[in-house]
Amino acid sequence: MDRRPIGIYDSGIGGLTGLKALRKLLPGEDFVFFGDSGRMPYGPRPKEELCRIAKQDMDFLAQFDVKAILAACGTISSAARPVLADYPIPAFGVVDPALDAMAAVPGDRPLCIIATAASIHSGEFTDALAKRCRYSREIVGVPCPEFAPMIEAGHIRRSDPVVMDAVARALEPIRGRDFGALLLGCTHYGIIEDAIRDFLGADVPLLSASECAAKALCDYLADAGLANERQTGGTARFFESGDPGHFEAFAEPYLEHGPVHAERAPLMEL
Ligand code: DGL
Repeated sequence: MDRRPIGIYDSGIGGLTGLKALRKLLPGEDFVFFGDSGRMPYGPRPKEELCRIAKQDMDFLAQFDVKAILAACGTISSAARPVLADYPIPAFGVVDPALDAMAAVPGDRPLCIIATAASIHSGEFTDALAKRCRYSREIVGVPCPEFAPMIEAGHIRRSDPVVMDAVARALEPIRGRDFGALLLGCTHYGIIEDAIRDFLGADVPLLSASECAAKALCDYLADAGLANERQTGGTARFFESGDPGHFEAFAEPYLEHGPVHAERAPLMEL
């Protein structure tokens, strides 16, 4: 049993899909959330930069004596895998839990992953999934570079023409394809899940990397004896390197967990 908080980070509000999923599973845990929207988007950045960012973001969270860290960010999870693996606090990403869930999808229909450009081009999602499936299924990767900055700018409603146009532009090449499952490999995408469903149709099963990772972290804490014994009453502290007011305006209604106050975090230099 360990009452210390869990750290979560992302380039912005996308990580809240991870926090929401974790809170549902672990309502008694305390969380420290770091949204680095001052440096978003992470998606177009080179691997070396993403590795430095991952270390800086985790060092920021480490000041709060966190017992474990979730990189609630597909881009960091794929580009900075070794940084997470070597970190002195147990640190997890969203890639492995998401790929475990995708590889377990029954049947032989193709599987699709949508994520940031860095995530798709790294091969850590698509090539790794092909390998897990022993190259017996077609794996389709689709980069959606417009989505995360658009979501961060506040375009999130399924009826918003900006959202509808961006979804159509990115996903037109796969519309009508009969996938066994489609993975939301960027944590921001869960926020526009309904618009993605509207465009692709309800028949394509969507999997959320954030939800898969939340479940895996929950299992890890239980197995390692690190879970908080409290069953309710967990708290969350929020830090933002961009605009805390903008973050609060989204986070409060999205999380449905009472008032959200975000403290300003330093904008870290690369
Ligand atoms: N939410 C992040 C991800 O899962 C990062 C998006 C971005 O900053 O480009 O990839």
